[in-house]
Amino acid sequence: MNNIYLVGMMGSGKSSSGRELARLLSFSFVDLDERVEERLGMSINEIFKTYGEPYFRKVESEVLSEVARDSDQVVASGGGIVLNPCNNETMRKTGRAIYLKTMLDALWERVKHKRDRPLLQTPNPKQVLADLLRIRGPLYEETSSGQFVTNGKSPEAVALEIYRTCFKQS
Ligand code: S3P
Repeated sequence: MNNIYLVGMMGSGKSSSGRELARLLSFSFVDLDERVEERLGMSINEIFKTYGEPYFRKVESEVLSEVARDSDQVVASGGGIVLNPCNNETMRKTGRAIYLKTMLDALWERVKHKRDRPLLQTPNPKQVLADLLRIRGPLYEETSSGQFVTNGKSPEAVALEIYRTCFKQS
């Protein structure tokens, strides 16, 4: 399989850059969070509220395994995908993971007014984001075969950079 899995923090641009990369490669685009929402018929916020994070993680892994059966896809994963080593194995066996690396302040600018990230519905969301980045940064690096910095870049620019670096022969 030749799938491309975009990994990285919430707000790193996985979905927006992923859509554009899929277009450049003539691949299908899959947003894993959307697939989970479709599967359970509720939003990510509602899933966390109703069933809790462990249940979300279980369904997220199941949906990843199903998606991974197809090829020629760019898959935008959820920011926590790398927490489960089985997910990393699935991605490794069926394609490659690319880390969209973004500095804390840029992440914060992109997510601070959004209400669709349940993990940030706390009194101190920027601190939570910083803690998640510190813990997950090394996991994204371990899991991925390449990384691209997305600070201050448009989704189109990020997608083109990945495309030119990883896929264009000439
Ligand atoms: C999460 C990130 C979200 C979504 C869920 C949990 C995380 O996806 O899967 O809210 O643990 O970082 P995005 O990275 O697309 O925001």
